[in-house]
Amino acid sequence: MDFKHLKSTGSKTGKVTAFMEKKRIIDEKSKDEQLEMFREDPEREFLTTNQGVRVSNTDISLKAGERGPTLLEDFHFREKITHFDHERIPERIVHARGSGAHGYFQVYKPMTEYTSAKFLQDPGKKTPVFVRFSTVAGFRGSADTVRDVRGFAVKFYTEEGNYDLVGNNIPVFFIQDAIKFPDFVHAVKPEQDNQIPQASTAHDTLWDFVTCHPETAHMMMWALSDRAIPRSYRMMQGFGVNTFRFVNAKGEGRFVKFHWRPLLGIHSLVWDETQKIAGKDPDFNRRDLWEAIEMGDYPEYEFGVQILEEKDEFKFDFDILDPTKVWPEEDVPVSWIGKMTLNRNPDNFFAETEQVAFCPGNVVRGIDFSNDPLLQGRLFSYIDTQLIRLGGPNFHEIPINRPLAPVANNQREGYHLMTINKGKTSYFPNTIGENLPRPVSAEEGGYVHYMEKVEGKKIRARSEKFKDFFSQAKLFWNSMSEPEKKHIIEAFHFEIGKVNDKNIRKAVVDLFNNVDGDLAVKIAKGVGVPAPDRKGGSSVTKESPNLSQERSEHTVKDTIKTRKVAILAANGYDHKDLSQVKKALEAGGAKAYIISKHQGMLKSSSGEEIEVDKSFVTTASVLYDAIYIPGGKENIEALKMQGDAIHFVNEAFRHCKPLGATGAGVELLKAANLPDIKYAGQESTDKAVSDKGVVTAMHSDNRSFNNSFIAAIAKHRHWDRENKEQVPA
Ligand code: HEM
Repeated sequence: MDFKHLKSTGSKTGKVTAFMEKKRIIDEKSKDEQLEMFREDPEREFLTTNQGVRVSNTDISLKAGERGPTLLEDFHFREKITHFDHERIPERIVHARGSGAHGYFQVYKPMTEYTSAKFLQDPGKKTPVFVRFSTVAGFRGSADTVRDVRGFAVKFYTEEGNYDLVGNNIPVFFIQDAIKFPDFVHAVKPEQDNQIPQASTAHDTLWDFVTCHPETAHMMMWALSDRAIPRSYRMMQGFGVNTFRFVNAKGEGRFVKFHWRPLLGIHSLVWDETQKIAGKDPDFNRRDLWEAIEMGDYPEYEFGVQILEEKDEFKFDFDILDPTKVWPEEDVPVSWIGKMTLNRNPDNFFAETEQVAFCPGNVVRGIDFSNDPLLQGRLFSYIDTQLIRLGGPNFHEIPINRPLAPVANNQREGYHLMTINKGKTSYFPNTIGENLPRPVSAEEGGYVHYMEKVEGKKIRARSEKFKDFFSQAKLFWNSMSEPEKKHIIEAFHFEIGKVNDKNIRKAVVDLFNNVDGDLAVKIAKGVGVPAPDRKGGSSVTKESPNLSQERSEHTVKDTIKTRKVAILAANGYDHKDLSQVKKALEAGGAKAYIISKHQGMLKSSSGEEIEVDKSFVTTASVLYDAIYIPGGKENIEALKMQGDAIHFVNEAFRHCKPLGATGAGVELLKAANLPDIKYAGQESTDKAVSDKGVVTAMHSDNRSFNNSFIAAIAKHRHWDRENKEQVPA
């Protein structure tokens, strides 16, 4: 530790102030440099107590004699145990399970016309960010791949203060008014009598809530879609959900909705796979994010904004303040105005990811609120909960929450205060402290609230247009591709199939009969309740393709970057096959892993050796995006005798993943009895054969194999395997 420096500034807080004074210009590195003030490297230190006293023994407590009682005067023992006893803080009431990352944001072009926010002006400026992705319903230790909305919260450390964009990966919400939030959360959390089920919407209380609140219909369609089971935090969209405002320097306001789109495309898992991953690797999404950043595959997201002139506020058949509605992109296009790159993992999960405190009310000049009744409640709730979660009113001083912009005000005292405020005055105005700190005019950068004209009677009511619960649910349904529709129906069968109360099951069918009659009939068929007496449904026929993951123009299917490919092999594998395919995959940015019965080395048919990455015991097909099987007669004879290898292939096939095999490798696919698949070798062609994502070639040096296999992986999943259910997996 740099004692000299400490002496000159008096404390760590002093160091920070000195740092802030020196560093007026915020750049990509600023937050990292600020956090550096608080980092400790244990390797360079002697073991000490929290009072700085060097400790001579931390293994044996102080006793009265070798076999005597422990003495109370053992201050090191007492302090160590006491601190340990208080290590846990309350988990977040929602979004308890999360993963964080550092990065930076850069705007593409000045947004001066729309907002005065400084971080949205200069394309040369890199504003540091911290992002926390999360699930909503599960406890802190729950599995990552459960069916749920994902939180997508971004803290921008701007020169004008912290701006938090606290969004989700689904653009609408369950309820229209924040006053319903405690009811909703009580219903979705494990049931109160037995605290079952963990991190799942598939139970009676949630669906009881849904059927009592038709406003949930649109969100539930999203929650049962593939959006709720993302392949990766790096492959999902983000949305600000609520309507906000941009305000420019002239004080002109416009309504806005915020969007994020991942440059790797928008991709999901399949339901059966998510449940298996929850057991095989409950940290799947957390690990994926961490490893990608460690390997230099930095996740990137474009920042988008839908901008609506105030005069157009009432132009739509929905209310733009209703958080259960999207603004269809056909009506209000998204402008993509910047990019966020996540390039650094936290040093300490608790200090950063757990202690970070987001709040939709943390805005900077140029960004303001709308009267969206959900947003209005959120503005209160986050700080309120953080007061108890983080133990008092000074959590803005925790390093991860500290703004880079200087902080000066007359707020004082409270638990865990770090700042040592000097001088006599802690009030304003004053005559003995030079009247400082003083309020600042708009010209000098002061935040001035948008002057919206508001008048009305005090009533508990919602505007009429909030009452259309089904049109956009139908718009969403219309916009889905056929495979996506199938997944939604299957999700209904799972979710409602787990509801014990038949009346609730029937009520769900009746509720969704308001959205689409055919959908209701299909739900009913799978859950043992009668179809509605009369087929209903909304009359909306419009589609909005960007609501679909499959059809959206915001997704890409032209890259295999960061995809994980399992190469199944045994002794006697064809080295030429394996190495040329592995090389081609890695050249495309994918990661290839050798999987075999045991860890250790494998010997090829021509004598080369290769190290196994994972054994069948430590991994599973559900943890990979694609499977490749190289040739080698002895290799394939061995794999054919291994149930794990056959299961690997079957499961990947059933989950619609790309499968590739060359030479004798094709025989393993045949042994797995994949239905209706055409293989290389069946016709007299030298070319690779690609059938429903199963790519095979008879020769290892076949360039057309590499190209076809890579194209199949880039497509992500192959939904055209109609008879995949015939495969046991
Ligand atoms: C548009 C709808 C909403 C979105 C997009 C949203 C998003 C989020 C996100 C992303 C987090 C996690 C923040 C983190 O990673 O630390 C969060 C936490 C939380 N949300 Fe919301 N939320 C919404 C609605 C609400 C409502 C209506 C309320 C209450 C009235 C609420 C209360 C909370 C609370 C109490 C937390 C925990 C905060 C903490 O302890 O740090 N949310 N929300």
